[in-house]
Amino acid sequence: MSSIAVYPGSFDPLTFGHLDIVARAAKLFGELHVLVVHNPAKNPFFTSAERVELIRSSLTEAGRFGAPIDPKAKVVVETLDQGLLVEYCHKVHASVLVKGVRSNADLDYELPMARVNRDLADVETLFLPADPQHGFVSSSLVRQVSSLGGSVEKYVPTAVVRALNNRSKGGLV
Ligand code: PNS
Repeated sequence: MSSIAVYPGSFDPLTFGHLDIVARAAKLFGELHVLVVHNPAKNPFFTSAERVELIRSSLTEAGRFGAPIDPKAKVVVETLDQGLLVEYCHKVHASVLVKGVRSNADLDYELPMARVNRDLADVETLFLPADPQHGFVSSSLVRQVSSLGGSVEKYVPTAVVRALNNRSKGGLV
């Protein structure tokens, strides 16, 4: 097994639940690629470039406030706007995908993808159980609460709060 893993997702936007998975996966692998993937089943709220930027600033913010990203861990943030996930894995020599799982519904959604990725290219998927603290947090709920004027500071890093606020005022991220 290589010690390179890929954590793919829409991250639209990144939540503290995602950040927790990044921190935990970064302890398990020598190199972790957080990959912003275009999901054709979803209508993106932030562009993939904006999502990458938000993840990068949130990782810096997490480091700055002593939160759990190991400073020795190599975490890179990239995008995949087209092509198969397993092709990206092959390109960066990763043999493992990491996914966070909050519920049975998540597992039902993730299992077919895990099986197809293994079938296509022998890429295994490692499921990390979401911390119960983040068990109900999703990007779509965060977007909804924020768009209706609610506070999302408990659920997402400051950079994301700022971007959501700017967006609801009609400004740029
Ligand atoms: O956060 P999401 O939207 O649930 O993530 C799903 C995602 C983007 C990881 C999934 O749709 C995906 O892997 N897309 C890449 C295209 C691909 O390789 N598809 C075949 C295997 S799932």
